[in-house]
Amino acid sequence: MAATKVLVIDDDLNIQRVLVFTLKQEGFEVHVASDGQAGVEMAGSIDPDLILMDVAMPRLDGYEATQQIRAAEHAGRRVPIIMLTAEADVEQRVKGLRAGADDDIVKPFHPLELIARIKALLARSGSGQPRKADAEKTTLGRLVCFYGAKGGVGTTTMAINSAIALAGRLKRKTALVDANLQFGDMRVFLDLGLDSSSIVNAISEPDLDADLLKKLMVSHRSGLELLLAPPNPESADLVVERQRSDPRSLSHILALMRKAYDYTVIDMAKSIDDFNLQLFDEADVIFVVMTADLSCLKNVRLVIETMESLGYERGKIQLVLNRSNAYTGINVDNAESALGRRIDYQVINEYRGAISALNSGEPFMSSRPDGPLGQSVSKFAAELDAKLAAESDKPALSRR
Ligand SMILES: Nc1ncnc2c1ncn2[C@@H]1O[C@H](COP(=O)(O)OP(=O)(O)OP(=O)(O)O)[C@@H](O)[C@H]1O
Ligand SMILES: [Mg+2]
Repeated sequence: MAATKVLVIDDDLNIQRVLVFTLKQEGFEVHVASDGQAGVEMAGSIDPDLILMDVAMPRLDGYEATQQIRAAEHAGRRVPIIMLTAEADVEQRVKGLRAGADDDIVKPFHPLELIARIKALLARSGSGQPRKADAEKTTLGRLVCFYGAKGGVGTTTMAINSAIALAGRLKRKTALVDANLQFGDMRVFLDLGLDSSSIVNAISEPDLDADLLKKLMVSHRSGLELLLAPPNPESADLVVERQRSDPRSLSHILALMRKAYDYTVIDMAKSIDDFNLQLFDEADVIFVVMTADLSCLKNVRLVIETMESLGYERGKIQLVLNRSNAYTGINVDNAESALGRRIDYQVINEYRGAISALNSGEPFMSSRPDGPLGQSVSKFAAELDAKLAAESDKPALSRR
């Protein structure tokens, strides 16, 4: 079998030397171009399996060179490109991805990391062969919101762990969106850094398509793909303003996600504002997370009334009683009669399981799926899946 061809496009002689040495050691056939223009020409003549592309270069920079290579490609043939960027700056990285790169790595990098990224990308792209299976497969395309009747009832816990159960045990393609724009804490819950892209990048992107959205999402080891909350409250305002001035920007993201995933799980903030109202509207099902205490019951009544006044059908709102066996003086029967409707799902209380997960950055559904809390949420996710997958046989769910 012919060796895999890697084209290095970089003007820095030292980097060229290091890359040639490392890549040859791994058995790759290596070609080098010292500026962007030469790189574009070589990409056309040698037909590489993968390209490593520097950003700042004479004649043509890495962004322009990437765009030109993409523009010259024939349908179905797409060479994987990794950008070698100088900064971990999100703006810069997004610029590279938008130009058509598939991945990026920040200099200085460890050779082992580079090789790992190259191998992952080659595996993903089938060594440059046309990829179609992924795009052609249809998904369930369900949009599932988790909304807390009150702060601290376990909304984020439910969203994350149900999503992991859907992605893991239930083998569904699942995305998780942190829609707590101001104070999203998924970065902490899932032990992720601050330098990853977020919903700000997705909603501000005028040419957002499936490919670019996928690159803006962060892959988590649990198998989930995450669209994170903005890294700070100021950029949260950008998202809110963008949605307000053009609600289609949010619709577009959600539509792309429905196409790409069986389930898009959204962890929502408590406020009832334009952004959240649009999420409610577009959702297939809204899980209202609650606990059995008086102030929560009062809020659940309010939420149900609001949803009814919006014209949603009753089944669109599902009540999830979290920590159902915690002693509060109010049992399930009491809660149901106070609300005048059934509680649809119950998840048990297990303080130790939840807290140790919280402090380790590893959700209990990953670390202890067979513990009492893991089993309880698994059961919830399996029921959710059975119901929504059955409904997906119909052409489209009526949203109202
Ligand atoms: N079933 C459960 N059993 C025990 N503890 C739980 C359970 N569910 C959640 N918790 C704990 O409750 C706390 C609040 O959980 P979480 O952050 O998920 O709530 P939230 O509703 O998203 O809060 P916020 O309003 O801050 O967004 C966490 O410490 C979590 O570990
Ligand atoms: Mg939360």
